[in-house]
Amino acid sequence: MLNVKNDFFLNSVGELISATSLQKEHTILIVDDEINNLQLLKRTFRNKYHILTASNGLEGLEVLKNNINDISIIVSDHKMPIMEGTKFLEEANLIAPDVIKILLTGFSDIEIITDAVNKCNLFQYMLKPFNPDELQEVVKTGVDKFDLVSSKSLILKDLKELFYKTIKSIASALDAKDPYTHGHSMRVTLYSIILAKELNVPEHDLELIETAGLLHDIGKIAIPESILCKPGKLDDNEYAIMKSHPANSERLIASIKKLHEVSPGVKHHHERWDGKGYPDGLKGEDIPYSARIIAIADTYDAMTSTRSYRKALDHDIAINEISKCAGTQFDPVMAQKFVEIESIIKSAKDYPEEYYLKYSTLYKEIID
Ligand SMILES: [Fe+2]
Repeated sequence: MLNVKNDFFLNSVGELISATSLQKEHTILIVDDEINNLQLLKRTFRNKYHILTASNGLEGLEVLKNNINDISIIVSDHKMPIMEGTKFLEEANLIAPDVIKILLTGFSDIEIITDAVNKCNLFQYMLKPFNPDELQEVVKTGVDKFDLVSSKSLILKDLKELFYKTIKSIASALDAKDPYTHGHSMRVTLYSIILAKELNVPEHDLELIETAGLLHDIGKIAIPESILCKPGKLDDNEYAIMKSHPANSERLIASIKKLHEVSPGVKHHHERWDGKGYPDGLKGEDIPYSARIIAIADTYDAMTSTRSYRKALDHDIAINEISKCAGTQFDPVMAQKFVEIESIIKSAKDYPEEYYLKYSTLYKEIID
């Protein structure tokens, strides 16, 4: 139980709360097997912090797991039965790396502690018997550091969300330009990230492929609608203008530093495995990996969407076509994998929202 003063206020929902608890923003987990020490530590901190206690490391880990979003600081004794303090803090660091960790220890343990500092991500250790005022000061500094790190990660999360929403809005704005390609960028992204995941692409590259998928056709913003939405066949001049869009896409994102790694996937998504594509006629593995993935997803979506000059093809026909073009238009290994996972692709085509939330790396980052 928290020891609170006798001043009370009504909060916004009419609950009676104490003046002391209004000021307590942080929770300390105190772990010590000696009851007298535990009492002393509780008395030291009870006026400023919420307090949770445990009498050994294992119990401490349980309390930490159950209160992971509340605990800012752990103060732990070192010499304890069941699990020593350094081992407990090492385990605690895996569960809550940002929580500030302070170790109380006897002089004779200094060497062991020095070794353990990095493993535990220890903020500070204090020799016993400790001076309560000094410990209060150390904890106060720890709380300030905790607040700083928390606000930094909140800002970072906000920036990621802003980036993600901006990229998605740009893709949607492009998709809205031509009623026949409505949702194209989103679907190409969806098929690309599914294929990439099935090809065991590392997490960081999944993020790049997703961003490249969303932006791959952004250069079409500069193409006149008379060409973009033309119902009939394009003449040579119109086709040349149309073919300028991957390079336009790359130019548009060139000034954004965070998108530099995305450029290859965007610029080369119309290259062909046999070297007959554009803009640079790259061949085989010279074509960036992400661009080879997007090329398959892009072609599948083009075939299975209704266009001004033809109706959508059936899924099976489109898959058959991808299979036939393995090794000429497409990377043979990737095309083979796309054919193998055709039932996932078909479900994703039918339930795009559901599959996008399941496979998106960018989305997962902002909800974590
Ligand atoms: Fe394109």
